[in-house]
Amino acid sequence: MKVLVVGNGGREHALAWKIGQSPRVDKVFVAPGNAGTAMDAENVDISATDIEGLVRFAKAENIGLTVVGPEAPLALGIVDAFEEEKLRVFGPSRAAAQLESSKVFCKNLLRQADVPTADFQVFRDPDDAMRYIKGRYAGERDRCPVVVKADGLAAGKGVIVCRRRQDALDAIDRIARRREFGEAGAQLIIEERLKGQEASVLAITDGKTILPLPPCQDHKPAFDGDTGPNTGGMGAYCPTPMVDDAQMAWIEEHVLVPTIHTMKRNRRPFRGVLYAGLMLTPMSGPKVLEYNVRFGDPECQPLLMRLKSDLMDILEAVVDRRLHEIDPPVWDPRPAICVVMAAKGYPGEYEKGQPISGINAADEMEDVKVFHAGTRLEGDTVVTAGGRVLGVTALGETLAKAKLNAYTAVQKVRWPGAWCRKDIGDKAQEYMEKLAAEG
Ligand code: AMP
Ligand code: GLY
Repeated sequence: MKVLVVGNGGREHALAWKIGQSPRVDKVFVAPGNAGTAMDAENVDISATDIEGLVRFAKAENIGLTVVGPEAPLALGIVDAFEEEKLRVFGPSRAAAQLESSKVFCKNLLRQADVPTADFQVFRDPDDAMRYIKGRYAGERDRCPVVVKADGLAAGKGVIVCRRRQDALDAIDRIARRREFGEAGAQLIIEERLKGQEASVLAITDGKTILPLPPCQDHKPAFDGDTGPNTGGMGAYCPTPMVDDAQMAWIEEHVLVPTIHTMKRNRRPFRGVLYAGLMLTPMSGPKVLEYNVRFGDPECQPLLMRLKSDLMDILEAVVDRRLHEIDPPVWDPRPAICVVMAAKGYPGEYEKGQPISGINAADEMEDVKVFHAGTRLEGDTVVTAGGRVLGVTALGETLAKAKLNAYTAVQKVRWPGAWCRKDIGDKAQEYMEKLAAEG
């Protein structure tokens, strides 16, 4: 079978690499792909949001399955377009993808499904939103623990965590008046700011059966110790000890099941990857911060590094609505860590076109795989072409050994201005030490 992966990040490289290992797969195409997918698969020069172009390609090449990586084509209805043409495709419909493309839709669904989430208010009018902040947080010595969110897709930037009243008023101004995130700011949400550790729980579902994947932890802030501006994710590891088996069962029962159920009842059956971004609050348990409707990036990289089963078995079972029939997937018991190497300036303006050396030396290490994100080929040379450039991913007997492996590989890779967080996975170590100390 021929498979098409849509997207060009580290997630799509990991998907193409894993799908290519299936004995059922003869060829993997990636549209538009990067330098890594050019080596592990074949790139096709079609943008991830050129849905007509992708449909035409899938028909012409007789593609047996298309797997959609990023949210943008899902929100545009790529799955509906493929299904209309009787093409097999993995991902949620446009109506189901609203769980990610509209935070207002998501919050209302969470409320309807009685899934734990932060208390919230929706506003269309910035004046109303500002009056709410001034009234609600009038007397509290300027303490204003809220998060202001643009409704629509804003590449992860439309979420502003506030401390003081003025932060919230500025956030409302940026989102709803100045429309810094365009139409995404036509509605906004003000919600209570939650405290705790964050975890990513991804599940694969065909709309009836739910297959939760081992829990991961991402590192969204740019710099060590969770400081600096928010990014798409600077590294992730899997599994995270912060979500144990009992908690996974709780999350399945109180978060995943009611969400999938309610989507079905609302005639928006959800198929694909449901990614719950959770805050593990110390006092009231896990609460949903957001849903994504796709694999996380970088969470996908350590997850697939650990998956021993054939990913095609799972993806095809979802497309054919028979997920209940397959055997549970087998996971490598060893943890995996992905360290993102970024370009100078990211997440702001960054440099492009720097030649990268040492990728092969890193890749040749045992239990290491270098997934490409923002790279492209210039002749035979791999050069930087994005902010998040590589996801250096490694397995290890323990999390500490996986970390050592990943960072040893990172040290072999060079380009001017390359940097990464040095503390990926440390929160897990600290958590385990704290647990041990508490007995
Ligand atoms: P989101 O895109 O909604 O996941 O938000 C991006 C990031 O903002 C999350 O990963 C959290 O770090 C933070 N965030 C979002 N909502 C809240 C909240 N209610 N309380 C605290 N932090 C939040
Ligand atoms: N790692 C965060 C995301 O994929 O949205």
